[in-house]
Amino acid sequence: MDLISIRDVDKKTIEEILDLAEKKEKVLKPHDLKKTNRVLATLFFEPSTRTKLSFQTAAVRDGLDYIDFLTETSSVKKGESFIDTIKTVMGYSDVLVVRHPKEGSARLAAAVSDKPVVNGGDGGNQHPTQTLIDLYTIRKYKGKIAGLNVTLMGDLKHARTMHSLVYALGMFGAHVTLMSPKGLEMSKETVEEVKKKFNAKVEVKTEFDVSNADVLYVCRIQAERFADPLEAKRVQEQFYISMDNLKGAKNDLIIMHPLPKVNEIAPEIDNSKYAKYFEQAHNGVPVRMAVIDYVLSH
Ligand code: CP
Repeated sequence: MDLISIRDVDKKTIEEILDLAEKKEKVLKPHDLKKTNRVLATLFFEPSTRTKLSFQTAAVRDGLDYIDFLTETSSVKKGESFIDTIKTVMGYSDVLVVRHPKEGSARLAAAVSDKPVVNGGDGGNQHPTQTLIDLYTIRKYKGKIAGLNVTLMGDLKHARTMHSLVYALGMFGAHVTLMSPKGLEMSKETVEEVKKKFNAKVEVKTEFDVSNADVLYVCRIQAERFADPLEAKRVQEQFYISMDNLKGAKNDLIIMHPLPKVNEIAPEIDNSKYAKYFEQAHNGVPVRMAVIDYVLSH
């Protein structure tokens, strides 16, 4: 199977992958790792730290090898097309992980590849393995997803992590609050789709308020998208997470972030009881081990 969009997978499949990730986490000890001759290819046409490295680690931990494709030293520099690149690399590997700035590129790769393709992020569209990590992390810390109040905060217009996650949260019965500055709201189409498809409770806010949240999921506010730098600064200050701004938050609130974070969270939060974003990034290994296993066997 391919994994291109969270819309392609049902709840049962997601739960199977999360359960498999739990098993993978338990056997993440070097002496338990099995050896095979399978190869994972990472093709990243955009920068990445977590997605690429955790997929490579997951491959090695699960007994696969990996090959890495770097655009700057590849024949893309001589004008080779994306499709020809995929058709070539599918002959060298058993599963391909693709990140590309263009929306729909992973779907295109899956259409031309005779090996499974996993979307490592396509433009502002989808990042399904990040969503699986997010669900895994929420389930791990909260024991459930259904009925939780999950607030998504930041640039909800452009963040692919948020577009994938809101859909899955609706599927799993979470109560979602979308909190973003004016102009950076999630598209009405996406919100309506989630509400209609899952009868989901979705609230929209343009002012900072985390009093009701069990999970606060933050992403970067992209100052470069504001015409007025002073307005960007004002919004950044209003949507800044500091210990002061968390007065009134629930005692067992957890804060998540897909990372990289820039200046939306005060450094003091990193060492607080609320911060779970580095654990979330570390959960990328067992979850991506489960994804590799799952797509190779379905
Ligand atoms: N969360 C995430 O996709 O991080 P990277 O861009 O570093 O892969």
